Amino acid sequence: MQTVHNIAGLRALVDQWRSRRERVAFVPTMGNLHAGHMHLVKQAAGAGDRVVVSIFVNPMQFGPSEDYAAYPRTLKADSLKLAENGVHLLFVPDMAELYPNGVEATTRVEVPGLSDILCGAERPGHFTGVATVVAKLFSAVRPHVALFGEKDYQQLLVVQRLAEDLCMPVEVMGVPTVRESDGLALSSRNGYLSLEQRAVAPLLHNALQHACQRLVGGDHDFAAVEADCVAALGEGGYTPDYVSIRRSEDLGLPQATDTALRILAAAWLGKARLIDNLPITLK
Ligand code: PAJ
Repeated sequence: MQTVHNIAGLRALVDQWRSRRERVAFVPTMGNLHAGHMHLVKQAAGAGDRVVVSIFVNPMQFGPSEDYAAYPRTLKADSLKLAENGVHLLFVPDMAELYPNGVEATTRVEVPGLSDILCGAERPGHFTGVATVVAKLFSAVRPHVALFGEKDYQQLLVVQRLAEDLCMPVEVMGVPTVRESDGLALSSRNGYLSLEQRAVAPLLHNALQHACQRLVGGDHDFAAVEADCVAALGEGGYTPDYVSIRRSEDLGLPQATDTALRILAAAWLGKARLIDNLPITLK
């Protein structure tokens, strides 16, 4: 595995591969890699001939009171994991490389609508930060295919939309969520949980599963299902931001005729804001 810190070095390698008609698969990350990230990396090996991973904790997607400074940075351990899993190129840009004009003055990518609801409503500017850095990374790496986790389902749709709207020649692939054996979705932020909080954390997934069962079982009172889910989370020690049943295609409010839905939730447990979501297929 080669590690490069600048866009010129990255391009030299990727250009070589592209000229040999090798397919480049890309997994952007913020590091502190766990089995969820590594699953994306393994899927990337099946989707392309060359696998590029980036590690960059992107300040633009963190709000002023969020955990940018505290976000875990574990480059040495991450780098070992990636090398052991057949990654060809690790791209680790610094701030000056990705934001030569500073974060505030940089050109921004806005994905209206999709960015303003659910997590976007709770975290203003977050998805503009994500869309901007992903657009920069796509333009630096020039991948044929890029892989994103369904764990961050709204992010996946934002990235698919930006690639489509900006005519980017990249296929954006979603990969199902990797979970602990008790159902908790793997996340770097699980590290913020105390032992007691970790013990109750799977409730988020359980409550969503229970809601799915109700919906699939024929209960189509979406508002009641959402409210019961919020109540169950509250009773279990979570402070929910939202639980919402949406159309899976565009996260719009579902109509009676929609069959492909998604239930999404964000909730605080101590100082960890955890998110999760599940697909629902109605008959
Ligand atoms: P990060 O949180 O490091 O996640 C990198 C990728 O790993 C994302 O596509 C995310 O959805 C995926 N991922 C995380 N946990 C997962 C799990 N349990 N199962 C499956 N996939 C999982 O998401 C970001 O970084 C950033 O916003 C980024 C896209 C890199 C832009 O800065």
